[in-house]
Amino acid sequence: MKLKKFIDELPIMQTIKKQGSYLEMRMEEFRQKLHRDLKPTRLWGYNNQFPGPTIEVNEGEELHIKWENHLPDNHLLPVDKSIHHIANHPEVRTVTHVHGSVTKPENDGYPEAWFSRNFKEVGPEFLHQVYSYPNKQRAATLWYHDHAMGITRLNVYAGLAGMYIIRGKQEKRLNIPKDEYEIPLILMDKTINNDGSLFYPVGPENPPANLPIPSILPAFTGDKILVNGKIWPYLNVEPRKYRFRILNASNTRTYTLSLESGDPMYQIGSDGGLLSKTVVARSITMEPAERIDVIIDFRKYQGKSLILRNDLGSINTPEDETGDIMQFNVRLPLKGKDSTIIPKHLSSIPSLKDKPISAIRNLKLVGASDDFGRPLLLLDNKYWDDPISETPKLGSTEIWSIINVTGFTHPIHLHLVQFQVLDRTPFNLEKFNQDGSIVYTGSAVKPKPNERGWKDTIAAPSAQITRLIATFSPYAGKFVWHCHILEHEDYDMMRPFLIQKRD
Ligand code: C2O
Ligand code: CU
Repeated sequence: MKLKKFIDELPIMQTIKKQGSYLEMRMEEFRQKLHRDLKPTRLWGYNNQFPGPTIEVNEGEELHIKWENHLPDNHLLPVDKSIHHIANHPEVRTVTHVHGSVTKPENDGYPEAWFSRNFKEVGPEFLHQVYSYPNKQRAATLWYHDHAMGITRLNVYAGLAGMYIIRGKQEKRLNIPKDEYEIPLILMDKTINNDGSLFYPVGPENPPANLPIPSILPAFTGDKILVNGKIWPYLNVEPRKYRFRILNASNTRTYTLSLESGDPMYQIGSDGGLLSKTVVARSITMEPAERIDVIIDFRKYQGKSLILRNDLGSINTPEDETGDIMQFNVRLPLKGKDSTIIPKHLSSIPSLKDKPISAIRNLKLVGASDDFGRPLLLLDNKYWDDPISETPKLGSTEIWSIINVTGFTHPIHLHLVQFQVLDRTPFNLEKFNQDGSIVYTGSAVKPKPNERGWKDTIAAPSAQITRLIATFSPYAGKFVWHCHILEHEDYDMMRPFLIQKRD
């Protein structure tokens, strides 16, 4: 179904500012209009909203959240019950993870700590109902989303995601746009059926006879782009500077953002908060789960419109409309003088490089296939259920070398820690496929300027070794690391890791 672009105004999510220190977040089913010309779409969300409300706290303010499941018994999307022995689990189960949060393992939303409606049934790792978030960490744009074992892709696609902002002193010191001039943008892609319902494939087209149906696919991209829950919206702005916190909350899709005018955006932050220096960029690539914090200056566009574009590169075809994201209409009168600035220096980021390294782990991203001949992707050739192999000591610093021997990029995410990217080194993938040897085809390349801050999710491109460095603290226990393409994470590109207490 073709839909007219830029006719719905960009919604801004409701902001929940720390009310006391206890919050209830209800997961519910409801209908919401995604576009003027669509019937309301059946969705899942938090507190009756899609995307969920933005949770906002200050650095160091502890927050307790009871994530409540009030969803129906049947999923609104096709559930593949052939993976992860989930056939006997309740079909609808949830567990919320605050992505980027520094919290104890029992509050992290472990995939097997799921629970069904009203906590009637719970997963093997379920411990308690109310999660605590100390927020004792650097101010940053985080987000919350569902993380239930084997169905994360479906729960998030159904709508279970929202933003979580930790504010800090440093950003207040910088004279950057704030309040109504600071706007969150959550990017998602979806395909919508003619009746307004969400489309998610039940399996591959022309499935082989033996295939379980529904059957998980290794990737899914929708043909419409949503920002804050509207398809191709517009935003009226004043001719001045704005700050946008942008999150890619899509299952599989990567975006390369640019302004139609070719003008630069000024990136001031990444996953783990402010960068050290502002990065001037004409295009910015975002893998699933990555966040960027940018300033856009609309001063010279008074009376004009400007499209935020998504560079589709070589896959660009005339039918593909996903090259557009949203439109800025610079038509509001300037309310007052814009005295904000685009600072050069933003914050200090101590390098982890000089710390003693306790371990270097070589971890391959590999493709495999299951008993039905379906593709599945693995971390270091291991399944979710295999014994834990990554066991850093509490407080130790390690280098993880992510060796991608598959044919495409995987966004790799570690829970609990913010890491730094050391470098990427290309190698000969053909040679590897022949005899398993790694032969470099170039020297190590430093991370891109906007990857030089704190990161929790990073692109690990095909035929490259991406090296990360992280200090595993402040909590011991079991966390997970995974590819953030949700179709990969669910099958089977996710592994637990254990931070060991020192004795
Ligand atoms: Cu965004 Cu393991 O999650
Ligand atoms: Cu992946």
